[in-house]
Amino acid sequence: MQSSEEYMQNLRQWLQDTADSPLEEMSDFFTKRLYGYEEHMSIWEESYRIFAEILPLDCQKILDLGCGTGLELDRIWQKNPGLQVTGVDLCEPMLDKLLEKHHDKPLTTVVQDYFQYDLGCCKWDAVISFESLHHFLPRRKKELYRKIYCSLKGKGVFILGDYIACCDEEEQLLRNIYLQKRKQSAIPDPCYVHFDIPLTLDHEIELLRNAGFIIEKILNGSATIILARKGA
Ligand SMILES: C[S@@+](CC[C@H](N)C(=O)[O-])C[C@H]1O[C@@H](n2cnc3c(N)ncnc32)[C@H](O)[C@@H]1O
Repeated sequence: MQSSEEYMQNLRQWLQDTADSPLEEMSDFFTKRLYGYEEHMSIWEESYRIFAEILPLDCQKILDLGCGTGLELDRIWQKNPGLQVTGVDLCEPMLDKLLEKHHDKPLTTVVQDYFQYDLGCCKWDAVISFESLHHFLPRRKKELYRKIYCSLKGKGVFILGDYIACCDEEEQLLRNIYLQKRKQSAIPDPCYVHFDIPLTLDHEIELLRNAGFIIEKILNGSATIILARKGA
């Protein structure tokens, strides 16, 4: 297991090596990598298993934000094949692959930016998101977390599985480079690009608590999984 010093050293080296790589638009990034995507993501296998395990068994209707080809859903439906799922993703080819795999499931797909999607009110038993939200700044997540909170039924849950920064230095370093690269390439604000800007666990939890959530579980595997419950 790598120490955080070693981890940060490798990260700094990688950032130096990739300093001249241009930022790629989010949907283009995933479209270009669709072939081989699921194999690439197999490093999260254990986290997908845990993610499916902590979804409460009595859920009937869930919303998956940034569902992609649905690797988390593969596991979730193994446990609960009747579960009704709405999957939102801005990359249509990823959703096509999901539909191809799960044409026999109660699945609705929506090609849309989840920040623009109408999540509704008191509608879902659970909202889930795996490895998607670490591409966004806290100000965007703050607003979304509040909308997720309102969209959940009485004691519904938000389950977030994501890349969490190991320390403030990692959070700050990645954010600075992200902002710098956007500025250098004059990328306008509404354009989403693929670059990881994870928050530390403390900062992620602070955002969730500010939206009203009660943090029930935090599980650390290859991805960090947070189970946040609607408090009222
Ligand atoms: C790393 S993939 C994860 C997909 C899936 N959850 C999984 O674990 O296999 C991130 C996904 O989030 C989607 N995504 C990123 N930003 C989004 C946004 N603002 N609205 C909707 N989808 C988004 C991408 O298109 C991509 O499919």
